[in-house]
Amino acid sequence: MKNILVTGGAGFIGSHTCVALLEAGYSVVIADNFSNSGPRTLERIREITGRDFVFCEADVTDRAAVEGIFKENNIDGVIHFAGFKAVGESVEKPLAYYYNNLVSTIELAKACLSHRVKNFVFSSSATVYGDNKAPFTETMPLLPTTNPYGETKVISERILSDAAAANQGFSVTLLRYFNPVGAHESGLIGEAPNGIPNNLMPYITKVAKGELKELRVFGDDYDTPDGTGVRDYIHVMDLAEGHAAALKKMSGFSVYNLGTGRGTSVLELVTAFERANSLKIPYRITPRRAGDIAVCYADAKKAERELGWKAKRTVEEMCRDAWRFEAGLRDEK
Ligand code: WQD
Repeated sequence: MKNILVTGGAGFIGSHTCVALLEAGYSVVIADNFSNSGPRTLERIREITGRDFVFCEADVTDRAAVEGIFKENNIDGVIHFAGFKAVGESVEKPLAYYYNNLVSTIELAKACLSHRVKNFVFSSSATVYGDNKAPFTETMPLLPTTNPYGETKVISERILSDAAAANQGFSVTLLRYFNPVGAHESGLIGEAPNGIPNNLMPYITKVAKGELKELRVFGDDYDTPDGTGVRDYIHVMDLAEGHAAALKKMSGFSVYNLGTGRGTSVLELVTAFERANSLKIPYRITPRRAGDIAVCYADAKKAERELGWKAKRTVEEMCRDAWRFEAGLRDEK
């Protein structure tokens, strides 16, 4: 398997995965419509790897566009990242989220079947576990999520599972990400959300840069050691390498957690960021954010056992790499 179509390859996780794939010797076709990214990232992928790739500016909900990509490129496998992913926004715009995230998955799976592409890796999320009791294992029954974004992941998983069951030889792997943070060590690519960040780490780096006044800690009354929310933060390059590992072991239908197996609280992450970068992050405790769960972290043993993959970068490295990208961040996308 040589030539991989990466949808959303100009985005945060997609761009880091393209770096890992190119460095692992794959050839890559990126499809992206820049709805949450920009062309600058493509140049930086080339700069980091010294390798080129095919780029198609396309909305992968558009059947004709998807058909064109498969016709013009000899695709061996697909990694589908392209999708809307802001939890809060999904509550305001559910139809846009269901349309974009589900139609893209269906159109890509249909194109794979009609072009005999046998490998499909899907970017899923720990959100699908809902308010289960951590650590989350792949065999756990999924509980309702609190938002349309999470539901698009649950439904996409189901669509792909059924497509794999109905089509002998069509292999599907679902990768459930925990909390991806950090940036490539070069500082050239990283997490650059449009507008005010929803997620913790990009919010912290904006406070560190002085663009935002202080961090609001959403609640310190959870049943956790310091009362703040606990999450499984994973370095985005570890996550990227997990995709390369998954491509090597495609067979039938598989599901893997991509996490570290360790939980870190909000205040622990703030402290780690301050130590790693020798700076202070002002914060204040505010009421809980609607929809948040207290504790979310992975049982990561299955990916290690079956894919030979294990996250290896520390929380300190995540903090240092995130800040290096933010501090050197060029304005244009
Ligand atoms: C982490 C912790 C907050 C911001 C979401 C999606 C998930 C994935 C990652 C897409 C929580 C606290 C946050 C802030 C805070 N997204 N927090 N102040 O909610 O765990 O996961 O993003 O794939 O699918 O659900 O990530 O970074 O928003 O929050 O105190 O300004 O930080 O309460 O405990 P989350 P997050």
